[in-house]
Amino acid sequence: MSDALTLAVPKGRVLKVLVPLLAKAGYDASSFLSDERALVRTSACGRLEALLLKPDDVPTYVERGVASIGVVGRDVLDEKGSELFRVLDLRVGVCKLAVAAPKGFTAPRGHVLRVATKYPRMALAHYAKKGEQVEVVKLHGSVELGAVTTLADVIVDLVETGRTLEENGLEVIEDVASVSSVLVANRAAWKVDGERLRAFVKGLEEALAV
Ligand code: PRP
Repeated sequence: MSDALTLAVPKGRVLKVLVPLLAKAGYDASSFLSDERALVRTSACGRLEALLLKPDDVPTYVERGVASIGVVGRDVLDEKGSELFRVLDLRVGVCKLAVAAPKGFTAPRGHVLRVATKYPRMALAHYAKKGEQVEVVKLHGSVELGAVTTLADVIVDLVETGRTLEENGLEVIEDVASVSSVLVANRAAWKVDGERLRAFVKGLEEALAV
């Protein structure tokens, strides 16, 4: 590893909007998006190094100090109950966690509601707040299918444009939480390498203000 600032970043949609934001902050990070298989990428200026990760793994790399800084959705942090230091809301990856059901759905009487989700902790907390007991079915993707088939009555999942719900005959029946990507920092790195990390964060704050 070099002297570059190490960032843990999620591969995919959020990275595509993060790179232009980094460009506005003065970092040419286009190499983070290049079509290669290398999982460690260095920015053109050599000041940033990105570890390309599955979103769920970003907190782990930052908690353990392998990366000083990370970019991760509030959904991932809240589902893990992560206490990572949230430094800055990046206002990218904006969406919401919602309960959705087949159009015209009415809650079944006489049986416990079955909820399919990638977010069992947040789903249970949502229903606990309402004093409702539910059965959670944990899924890893294509969650909408849970409510399209007989697997579940409703789903708790991310909604961005609403297109996936619409094309599967589902609709939002309750909002659970607002989601966006945030910058998180390793607390020890924030102390030891504070000056450099604060300068990086300031650059992003200024880029967001433009
Ligand atoms: C996410 C989410 C929804 C969809 C929402 O899935 O779980 O399925 O995006 O986006 P929309 O409101 O713009 O349609 P993702 O594409 O990450 O894939 P997954 O099904 O594997 O979770």
